[in-house]
Amino acid sequence: MPGGDRLHRGGARLTAFAALPTPALLLDEPRLTRNIARIGDRVKSLGARLRPHIKTHKCIEVGRRQIAGQFGGITVSTLAEASVFAAAGFGDITYAVPIEPGKFAAVVALAASGVRMAVITDDVSIPEPLSAAAARARVALDVFVKVDCGYHRCGVDPEGPALLETVQRIGAQGSLRFAGLLTHAGHSYHVRGAEALRAVAIQEREVMRAAAARLAALGISVPIVSVGSTPSITQVDHLDGVHEVRVGNYAFFDATQATLGSCTFDDCVLTVLASVVHRDRARGRVIIDAGAIALSKDRGAVEQDPAAGYGRVLDIDGADLGLRVSSVSQEHGIVSVADSALLDRLPVGARVRVLVNHSCLTAAQFDAFLVHQGHQVVDRWAIHRGW
Ligand SMILES: Cc1ncc(COP(=O)(O)O)c(C=O)c1O
Repeated sequence: MPGGDRLHRGGARLTAFAALPTPALLLDEPRLTRNIARIGDRVKSLGARLRPHIKTHKCIEVGRRQIAGQFGGITVSTLAEASVFAAAGFGDITYAVPIEPGKFAAVVALAASGVRMAVITDDVSIPEPLSAAAARARVALDVFVKVDCGYHRCGVDPEGPALLETVQRIGAQGSLRFAGLLTHAGHSYHVRGAEALRAVAIQEREVMRAAAARLAALGISVPIVSVGSTPSITQVDHLDGVHEVRVGNYAFFDATQATLGSCTFDDCVLTVLASVVHRDRARGRVIIDAGAIALSKDRGAVEQDPAAGYGRVLDIDGADLGLRVSSVSQEHGIVSVADSALLDRLPVGARVRVLVNHSCLTAAQFDAFLVHQGHQVVDRWAIHRGW
């Protein structure tokens, strides 16, 4: 390998990334450091605590950087993430997908191992059997009630009877603690621009404040109000009444976030290094070895940018070539190149980098990040996939 072949940090070869086998997932470490610091500081200055969602990366090294200087809690979306992070010493975990009975045993086992485990529910049938499972293992679980703040994916109607009923059911169980109210403003991904994002953020906050006030009026105190989506938190004006922020994507950002207005393209951390495997001058296109398996099939901010394709094509230095991955099959990415001078620069074997649409989904396609500073790979960090 050119650029030396020395072992570095976690055992990675110190090498110029242009020489790596492709496709490879590149992580720009200086940008990661900058994003973590910026949003970490922002959440602090808004008066809330940060519980980063580690589903974006599923990577211990990134998680450790996110909790440095924070209170130490994390959010996960799979029990595989919970187990791996618990084994690595993360002791305060919220599993933020609604719990169902098939997962009680695993959650209870994590709590029995000494982790402070919190789960979420929006279903009145869950507290009683969950408490019974916890009691059998002599552990207590924290339970948040998931509230629908306008995304309409999961969550109780904040104004309907299920809010109070679910809270009361949790409170009536000996092995559960009512942890508070939790929401995710996923509908922030469907709007563009600071003003529209801020409107969603304000809705997220105000729905939660009103739900907490409704319970308070009935004499029920809400220990934690937990919110979070990257687009809403980058734009929110204040977080009065909110205790905790669970953001995930902010560590990496991506082309979708830059298109929505949560960040700039220069904040995006992940690119997929790919090679040209076929050049078709007649059709004006090249095929690269990064298709759906490498990039994911996420269409990005297609509502806001209909030409989003499956990612932006950059040169090896990270300069935007003005090209998109216009379609993908399993291992092939098709890139239309109308400009013949540009086509000349892309012979078979040429290297490009694809700035990904959705960093969380792309990261979940790979086993490791190749961590780079400039053109040097300085480390390799494992990605812990699975359920
Ligand atoms: C429940 C929940 N909380 C928090 C997040 C973090 O959102 P983001 O990655 O936009 O920061 C997600 C992401 O899907 C989520 O589902």
